[in-house]
Amino acid sequence: MAVTATGSNMKSYEEAVDTFSWSDVEAQFSWARTGKVNMAYEAIDRHVADGKGDKIALHFSNNERDESYTFAEMSKQSNKFANVLRSLGIAKGDRVFIFMPRTPELYFSLLGALKIGAVVGPLFEAFMESAVRDRLKDSEAAAIVTTPALMSRIPRSELPDLKHIIVFGEGVAEGEGLVDYGRAMAEASDEADITWLDREDGLILHYTSGSTGKPKGVFHVQNAMLQHLYTGQIVLDLKEDDVYWCTADPGWVTGTSYGIFAPWLNGATNVVRGGRFSPQDWYATIAKYKVTVWYSAPTAFRMFMGAGAEVAKSFDLSCLRHILSVGEPLNPEVVRWGHKVYGQRIHDTWWMTETGGHMICNYPAMEVKPGSMGRPIPGVQAGIIDDQGNELPAFRMGNLALRTPWPSMMRKIWNNPAKYEEYFRIPGWYVSGDSAYMDDEGYFWFQGRVDDVINTAGERVGPFEVESKLVEHPAVAEAGVIGKPDPLRGEIIKAFISLREGYEPSDELKTDIARFVKEGLSAHAAPREIEFKDKLPKTRSGKIMRRVLKAWELNLPAGDLSTIED
Ligand code: WTA
Repeated sequence: MAVTATGSNMKSYEEAVDTFSWSDVEAQFSWARTGKVNMAYEAIDRHVADGKGDKIALHFSNNERDESYTFAEMSKQSNKFANVLRSLGIAKGDRVFIFMPRTPELYFSLLGALKIGAVVGPLFEAFMESAVRDRLKDSEAAAIVTTPALMSRIPRSELPDLKHIIVFGEGVAEGEGLVDYGRAMAEASDEADITWLDREDGLILHYTSGSTGKPKGVFHVQNAMLQHLYTGQIVLDLKEDDVYWCTADPGWVTGTSYGIFAPWLNGATNVVRGGRFSPQDWYATIAKYKVTVWYSAPTAFRMFMGAGAEVAKSFDLSCLRHILSVGEPLNPEVVRWGHKVYGQRIHDTWWMTETGGHMICNYPAMEVKPGSMGRPIPGVQAGIIDDQGNELPAFRMGNLALRTPWPSMMRKIWNNPAKYEEYFRIPGWYVSGDSAYMDDEGYFWFQGRVDDVINTAGERVGPFEVESKLVEHPAVAEAGVIGKPDPLRGEIIKAFISLREGYEPSDELKTDIARFVKEGLSAHAAPREIEFKDKLPKTRSGKIMRRVLKAWELNLPAGDLSTIED
């Protein structure tokens, strides 16, 4: 069963845990000597200063473009963008959103914003108007970088703080807050002063979903780079010559922590592929750039499995040295299939937007138990606790929790201290919202969510956001949304809906309601299944009981119904 890669950065897990100290990680940063902190400098410019300016930092391709940039070029382009933002009066701490498909310009903008100490808010390109509005409003964003195609989804009249929209694309009419990215970049100098920061100054704001309320702004600080650098070394196992590909979009935390920060802090060559998933395109990307370390997600691996081993065999994938997965449970059969077809085990990693970086992982230096998320990274302690905070013995299922603090731990929920405190309600612990157990060798096994958060194809969707959109539809009186188990996507979104007077259930109405959510909120949040009910189960205070909907769906006992309306 044991598959131990030789020559990994971590020699033995036990030894790494015994000898670990965060101060050894700190010593690797230039700020350990200079006292000057900035993520963008450490990720890009320091490699130029170290004489590696000619190394390829970014290989980008989509169906139209195919480009590569060295660290020196990334440095200049991000300097230019830093100057563009400065000329608009954007300063340290301001929220600058990036709302565009993956192109090199997304990365120049993001790094440029970091260089002036702005807090970056990445937005996934599939977000529609209400999703965009909620996030920009809550964070009081000052500027956004976007494309002509996405611009109409930014409701400017409702966003008084949003002063500048920087548009990358053809035919941008400047004025009234609109700035042409191409014109501004052409005029900007490629030299820029970096705004030096404190380790506790802001870095990034990722909006993510919980089971109640609107999406919350998870705020991370510069200090997170300790965890990004270190886990890039021991979990991604990045080395000097690696060509690394993380398939996640920077709209999600995996696409920033491990699509930008970890690889570039470690000076690796980073591959970005724009466009949609297709097994052929993705394998071709691996073969084209000779990707050595590949980080993707269970739904993608299940799609590759569905496409069949023959497709994999028609590409030369022998370059792959290390494969990792994140975001949803990784089925043991997928690990075994990967072993057969790619010649190595897929390494599962567990963490969350809130943790900012890897927490529980499988390492090349450790035996992979298919189905387990692995063991905590050195420097982090995990435990299984009951609701009172008592640690549970091996094999007992409970709340998956982490000992506080760690370097990349979120530092606040934007504008919502009460939400933040909820995670830390048990002294000394961060409570994740996942349930799990630990085995007698300290491996953790994921069991599910303790709340109603839905995980569809690795994307975290809050039922409340979907329900709020659904009830805006003229036919919908009430809506309750749950995750329904699905063999490919892990879960799909299922909505139970009661209709207003005068509306009759029909397939056309289902299609129309699904489209309404897709066009108003986002495609990944739209229900794939809708069921009409005369009445939805509610508590006496009027809250829809998703737990009961789930029990209906799965034919399970509904549990305690003492709070139900009637
Ligand atoms: C789930 C993504 C099982 C989990 C980095 C967590 C996982 C949520 C795994 C965070 C895994 C993440 N196995 N479930 N290896 N990794 N999850 O914030 O429920 O988008 O709480 O962060 O995804 O999702 P988020």
